Parts: sequence; structure tokens; C-alpha cells
Amino acid sequence: MSLRLGDTAPDFSAETTEGKINFHEWIGDSWAVLFSHPADFTPVCTTELGETARLKSEFDKRDCKVIAISVDSVTDHQAWVGDIEETQGCAVNFPIIGDTDHKVSQLYDMLHPGEGDASTVRSVFLIDPKKKIRMTLTYPKSAGRNFDEILRVIDSIQLTDGYKVATPVNWKNGDDVIIVPTLSDEEAEQQFPQGWKTLKPYLLVTRQPNL
Ligand code: BEZ
Repeated sequence: MSLRLGDTAPDFSAETTEGKINFHEWIGDSWAVLFSHPADFTPVCTTELGETARLKSEFDKRDCKVIAISVDSVTDHQAWVGDIEETQGCAVNFPIIGDTDHKVSQLYDMLHPGEGDASTVRSVFLIDPKKKIRMTLTYPKSAGRNFDEILRVIDSIQLTDGYKVATPVNWKNGDDVIIVPTLSDEEAEQQFPQGWKTLKPYLLVTRQPNL
């Protein structure tokens, strides 16, 4: 059965380009993004890993570690990272898991027979410090992911963990947010002293509270 939001992220030990890790220990008290790519030495994956390396400081700001995985070996990953730096202008600054025995990709249901072979699809798992899965995303091999969107959803989830708000369509950090409809008027007055705009009884918009 596939993993669902709120499930505990399965733990595992694996070889990576930065040595052997135990996944839960590696996450520690941080957030983590585990993302799979179909294969080393492929063009779209090369751009995705380069972009993730470029955005590393943005992930750091959100206290979020990143780790990649494919069914290739650590030796292959190590050979490929030079190509990524050369073509994308950024050195890979996060570990890549070698998963030649498919142990981790099976645990996370990253192998999709419909995609034609034993390579992993483009899955993303966002895991919180309690090791709970908070977001999943799966793209076909042909579509490179948007890593700004992954940062955006981390912002949303971290914000809404702390305040009784939800983020509207295309929200970006700093934009107005929505007060969750289950809040009473008294609770809303207490939690949002800056006030809000009532567009409908169920649609209350307020300034992002943590600015
Ligand atoms: C790529 O990363 O470019 C890629 C990998 C597998 C299938 C198609 C494209």
C-alpha cells in the first residue's frame, strides 16, 4: 500500500555519496525532503540535481535537509556529480542514496511498472521532525519538477503548523492567508488582532501572522 500523509516515513539504512546513513538518525530534529530521480547520466535529472544544489541555502533556511535517490550505485552517483557541477554550475551539496537492490525505492513505492522499467519515478516526500510524511508528489520521468514549488509548500506547512490559517491558491510567503473556517469569532479576534476581511462567512482573509 502506498504511503499516505501522516504516516511515519519508513526508516532504512543505506549507502550514500556521503557515507552510510540511518535515515531517521540522519533527519534528526530537522525537516527532510527525500526525492527520487529515474537514473544517473540522464538530462532532466542532471538539471534537477543542479537546481536542488543551487537552492540548498533556501532549504537550510527552512531547517530542511535534502537527499536524493535512484536505483544506480554510489559509484555511479560519484562519477555523475562532476557532470552536474560542470553543466549546472553548482556542486552537489547533499547526499545521493545508492539503491541498486531497490530496497528503499520499494519501501517508498517509487517504482511504477507503468513507467516501463525498474527506474524510479520522480517522487518527493516531505518529512517533518517527528518523521511524519507531510507532503508527497509524483511526476512521470518526462517532467522535471519545480523545486520552487517544493520550497513553497514547506513554507505553507511550517506556517500552518504554527497558526490557525490555510494558504490560498498560488500563495507565496508574505501573501495574505485564510483563517481556518472552524475558528470561532472570539478565537479569531484573539489570534488575529490585526483583523481580517470577510469575503464570505467561510472565507476570511488576513495578513500572514508571522511577518
Ligand atoms: C531524464 O532525466 O532526462 C530522463 C530519465 C529517464 C527517462 C526520461 C528522461
